[in-house]
Amino acid sequence: MQVQNKHKIKPETAIEQNHCYTQPFIELFNEDCLQTLSRLEDNSIDCVITDPPYSGLTSKSKGTGRFANDDNHIEFDDMSERAFLLFVKPIFRELYRTMKLGSHLYCFTDWKQLRNMADCLELASFKIVNIVCWNKGHFGTGAGYRSQSEYILVFSKGLPNTFNLKNVGNVITASRAKEAIHPHQKPTELLKILIENSTKEGDTIYDPFAGSCSTLKTAKALNRNCKGSELSKEYCQMYADFENGLLL
Ligand SMILES: C[S@@+](CC[C@H](N)C(=O)[O-])C[C@H]1O[C@@H](n2cnc3c(N)ncnc32)[C@H](O)[C@@H]1O
Repeated sequence: MQVQNKHKIKPETAIEQNHCYTQPFIELFNEDCLQTLSRLEDNSIDCVITDPPYSGLTSKSKGTGRFANDDNHIEFDDMSERAFLLFVKPIFRELYRTMKLGSHLYCFTDWKQLRNMADCLELASFKIVNIVCWNKGHFGTGAGYRSQSEYILVFSKGLPNTFNLKNVGNVITASRAKEAIHPHQKPTELLKILIENSTKEGDTIYDPFAGSCSTLKTAKALNRNCKGSELSKEYCQMYADFENGLLL
């Protein structure tokens, strides 16, 4: 995987041989999230915040039946639409099993994947609660209606628990993460609202596609426990370096 980063990995903080980086309140597993999920107990997670790989729908077809993006290729994102649906199905089922009744699940998606993603979540028995528009404040490259937003599907397991915050609308404006190390990194400001709205201190959040570990970092800052899974060793290593004070 091509990591968007100028920093060098520091060998002295290499993530442990069992592919796991643990700290009080934090556990990051360098593995397929299905492996992590298989070890999680039923009804043990208070909230899921997830940002699945984007399936190549945002990239240009190379005419080979596969998809790729020359500028920002992410190895694990390189899936056809059909492959993507098959990919998320067992993961959403496992998330449903491991989440507590009434808990909230947030799933980031773009407008192209929105319908598929919502259908997959409903097929896994989650109930739709809302769709939040993340307004990034300015649009990206391209023509026509240039993309300025992403969507956050808000689902629950059973009837949703009451949200903690009273004054949050379903359009949230937050600039893209500054000094991003991951092409899909989510801003702390935005994650903070989701976490505070759906959990309390001491609760456990899980992010099956941790990427730059933005969810883990924000959860920890808010005194929540957080577990994450990430296939890329580079991103896991960068998180370990960050926690060890070797990366800002
Ligand atoms: C869209 S990115 C997540 C970005 C993240 N929200 C952030 O703020 O940095 C999806 C991530 O999922 C990882 N990934 C893909 N398939 C995975 C799997 N089966 N298990 C765990 N991680 C996976 C990719 O390596 C990629 O970093």
